[in-house]
Amino acid sequence: MHEPVLSIRGLTKTYRGGTRALDNVDLDIRKGEIFALLGPNGAGKTTLIGAVCGLVRPTGGTIAAFGHDLARDWRAARARIGLVPQELSTDMFETVRRAVTYSQGLFGKRHDPARIEEILRGLSLWDKRDTQIRALSGGMKRRVLIAKALAHEPELLFLDEPTAGVDVELRKGMWDQIAALKERGVTIILTTHYIEEAEEMADRVGIIRGGRILMVDEKHAMMERLGTTEAVIDLSEPLAALPPAIAAFPVELAGEGMRLVYRGGSGAGGGAAEVARLTQALTRTGIAYTSLDIHDSSLEDIFVGLLGAQEVSA
Ligand SMILES: Nc1ncnc2c1ncn2[C@@H]1O[C@H](COP(=O)(O)OP(=O)(O)OP(=O)(O)O)[C@@H](O)[C@H]1O
Ligand SMILES: [Mg+2]
Repeated sequence: MHEPVLSIRGLTKTYRGGTRALDNVDLDIRKGEIFALLGPNGAGKTTLIGAVCGLVRPTGGTIAAFGHDLARDWRAARARIGLVPQELSTDMFETVRRAVTYSQGLFGKRHDPARIEEILRGLSLWDKRDTQIRALSGGMKRRVLIAKALAHEPELLFLDEPTAGVDVELRKGMWDQIAALKERGVTIILTTHYIEEAEEMADRVGIIRGGRILMVDEKHAMMERLGTTEAVIDLSEPLAALPPAIAAFPVELAGEGMRLVYRGGSGAGGGAAEVARLTQALTRTGIAYTSLDIHDSSLEDIFVGLLGAQEVSA
């Protein structure tokens, strides 16, 4: 087990006015991982990032990055941490290339035009290199923020909603860029509302709500543990009610009796054997079906289920 790159203990933030945005957060981030922080609006994601990046002053708790306590030894860690902020507040009158070049020099990196070109081409911004940032579209502006963070070459990079407002095709391109950073050994913490993005990229996922971390786990373990199997079976003839042999399975009748929906099994693929038994039971009971579609629940299903359950118990 590696020494964590980032170690957060008991982190609390109460804003003036009394909003408790972070409530006793403990979190360790491992070197070289992509960690996705998922949570609804107002969960505390940006506040958490701001606390690590020196933009938000914590009310309590400790943060250590690269073994340095940030409260005491801020400068040692700062140059090694990069941030792509959620809010667009960059130098609007600069050209793309100058803004990105400035970021490269900010923490003492040598000016490297070839690297800047590589970054801008990788983000489909090379054609816009001499355009003022204010003349770019929203999605392009967001990509400039990413280019700036890449130019700085941090070892620990925060991406706060990196692909918000970016179209699907370019989003895929950005995922490739982020994957390439991981290849270079960069540790990445990202927040996103696109759960597909976390599912695609993250090694581990943390779920935060109301300033509390509800769960942190390997993405695959989370899907394994909380995932379920869903099967949709279209029937040849409508059923008025479920025969007892079928009702013993976790199924519901839908589509005016023309469809059976199975939800069960624990863990990815765990329901497949039961679905096989279900289809055998259908055949034995003389119920014919025309199609069977079986799939495992996504991270999104798990996420919505988990937050929904919290809502009920809150
Ligand atoms: N500067 C501030 N002053 C007072 N309250 C704030 C401030 N910034 C954030 N908050 C409050 O803290 C809570 C957490 O906000 P935060 O921006 O961290 O959420 P988030 O998880 O990033 O949400 P989103 O998904 O919408 O970006 C919210 O209730 C928010 O209203
Ligand atoms: Mg936010």
